[in-house]
Amino acid sequence: MNRDEAIRLLKEHIKTDNLINHCLAVGAIMKGLAKEFGEDEKRWEIIGILHDLDYEYTKDDPEIHAKKTVEILGDKLNDEEKNAILSHNEHAPLKTKLDYALYSADPISGLITAAVYVRPDRKIENLKVKSLKKKFKDKSFAAGANRENIKKIEEVGIELNRFFEISIESMKEISEELGL
Ligand SMILES: [Fe+2]
Repeated sequence: MNRDEAIRLLKEHIKTDNLINHCLAVGAIMKGLAKEFGEDEKRWEIIGILHDLDYEYTKDDPEIHAKKTVEILGDKLNDEEKNAILSHNEHAPLKTKLDYALYSADPISGLITAAVYVRPDRKIENLKVKSLKKKFKDKSFAAGANRENIKKIEEVGIELNRFFEISIESMKEISEELGL
């Protein structure tokens, strides 16, 4: 599967634009993290793009969120990839770098999007790490972006500042697609 195929598949299952953008943003960050770790950038991006595939089917039953995605994707995923998707909704323990990357990319994408929306220009282009860091520390800002989950990335050797930098730069690469 390539990126275009993953996006096509995503759009078959997800109809909300915001949610599609969320998935694309997580994909971009996953790609950036794969590069940082020397892992498979294409594959990691696809896992990011598909991680919430079941969201519209499971929103009233969060307990099955992620399990349903693994079911839908079946043998399109290997075991490591299945674990990453399951662990992003606490259905499996965090083990590999891929698991941690997805677990932390998910909330940071939301924090960045919220930080862009409060900018006067509403553009990611000029969003700085320093400003994102302030928003991170302000617990009332975008409270849904779980700070503890974001911090988990440190357990696989990426400092928070570096993670902010990678995430902003990665989302900038697809800023037009994201409308940011
Ligand atoms: Fe997500």
